[in-house]
Amino acid sequence: MSAIDTNTMTMTRFVIMQQRQQPEATGELTTLLNALLTAIKAVSSAVRKAGIAKLYGISGSTNVQGEEVKKLDVLSNDLFINMLKSSFTTCLLVSEENDTHIEVEVERQGKYIVCFDPLDGSSNIDCLVSIGSIFSIYKKESSSSPSLADVLQPGRKLVAAGYALYGSATMIVLALGNGPVNGFMLDPAIGEFILTDPDMRIKPRGKIYSINEGYEAQWDEAVTEYVKSKKHPQTGKAYGARYVGSMVADVHRTLKYGGIFMYPATKDSPKGKLRLLYEGNPMAFIIEKAGGLASTGRIPILDVQPQSIHERVPVFLGSRDDVQDLIDCYKRH
Ligand SMILES: *[C@@H]1O[C@H](CO)[C@@H](O)[C@H](O)[C@H]1NC(C)=O
Repeated sequence: MSAIDTNTMTMTRFVIMQQRQQPEATGELTTLLNALLTAIKAVSSAVRKAGIAKLYGISGSTNVQGEEVKKLDVLSNDLFINMLKSSFTTCLLVSEENDTHIEVEVERQGKYIVCFDPLDGSSNIDCLVSIGSIFSIYKKESSSSPSLADVLQPGRKLVAAGYALYGSATMIVLALGNGPVNGFMLDPAIGEFILTDPDMRIKPRGKIYSINEGYEAQWDEAVTEYVKSKKHPQTGKAYGARYVGSMVADVHRTLKYGGIFMYPATKDSPKGKLRLLYEGNPMAFIIEKAGGLASTGRIPILDVQPQSIHERVPVFLGSRDDVQDLIDCYKRH
């Protein structure tokens, strides 16, 4: 066995291959994905504190540059925006970090719209728990100049969606058009993402439920009944509970091991906490393509018609049978 695979399937190569299979493709989406890859590699390196010795010096713990150091979430946002704008493939961007949508300068415009959360789970940054980036890609449908109306498309219209997880390793999970869901692991030695998890499928039923149980008093009856049935089953074993509080980590575990992830509406947040455009939709797109379900409890997340760019949505996603049980609870209440 040779020590190095000289013919490895990198993400770039995989995307070019997909593009070749569609005769009408122009290569614009490939260019866009390459821009996202560059941003994600830079964020991954920053999350892992590459180069921190230069900032802190050899001797002590004082930050020699003081206030100069950009916060990770701001740095990640700048990387995403700059890489996407300079790829000449996008016309509108929606970022979790920016109040309004961002219009790309006319001379750099392309046909795609990208909604993203450059660093999701930011409250977990300081305690070094896994964080991630999430993105979803639409095509601009109108022929008029880019406007807010072009952004407000239901998730059903997505061209592609994915996330990067900065965990014990960095991984990108990507769902493209009609293709399957694929996982690519970053090999830091060569700076390339390698196809390690082809055609990811979620189990029809899992053994894990994932929800912030601290808010139980604020849940509606359907969620209360559902969680109770998992903790006190009439037959069989109770489900295990897992909750990181970082959406990318919780969704990735759900995709790999099965089960259900929930962020319901509460009395304080009647539409839940998660954002439709750059959290709910991309994750729903991936989970459905992997054979699972993603619902608001009443309708598929991908069918929600957005009214504004930062709107929230209740999220229940994961294994098909588990999410169906939850939907059945909502039908009874
Ligand atoms: C987006 O937000 C960042 C802060 O994260 C800011 O630096 C940048 O100027 C904003 N961009 C636009 C185009 O509004």
